[in-house]
Amino acid sequence: MRIGVYPGTFDPITRGHSDIVMRSLRVFDRLIVAIAPNPRKEPLLPLADRVELAKIVTKDMPNVEVESFDGLLVNYVRRRGAQGLIRGIRAVSDFEHEFQMALLNRKLDEQLETVFLMPSEEYSYLTSSIVKELAMLKGPLEEFVHPEVADRLRHRYRDLHR
Ligand code: PNS
Repeated sequence: MRIGVYPGTFDPITRGHSDIVMRSLRVFDRLIVAIAPNPRKEPLLPLADRVELAKIVTKDMPNVEVESFDGLLVNYVRRRGAQGLIRGIRAVSDFEHEFQMALLNRKLDEQLETVFLMPSEEYSYLTSSIVKELAMLKGPLEEFVHPEVADRLRHRYRDLHR
């Protein structure tokens, strides 16, 4: 049984992320979507909301689990008995940062491989930041995120502007 970990901030989970989850299941038997608190990025959504939304989005996908993790990713991966990390790569602009992270993680655990997957080209420009900007400016969201994610973002911005 090959277990993969798909780590990220998921603030919020987008259709691009779900596309990567589905592609990962072609490579791994089981996938854990692992959500980092990542306070450095000052996420818009609390960790509990990010986990809840990722669970909603993946509820019909077999062999997918969602949980949060704290501390070093490599330690979490080892604890979960996973063999690989999944990262989505959209464009050359993603490459440098992803390359650094993959090499650092391999330095920390030489058994750990990072597998890069490309999302469908219709999501190649999509980022959580773009989705948040759209939500802040009351733009259309359903094309880019699950309807429950869209609702949550709208509520969050409404609360912030109250
Ligand atoms: O979705 P993101 O923000 O690109 O995800 C980044 C993430 C969560 C994968 C990265 O920040 C991470 O691995 N955080 C856990 C702490 C860690 O292990 N850091 C060292 C590797 S960069």
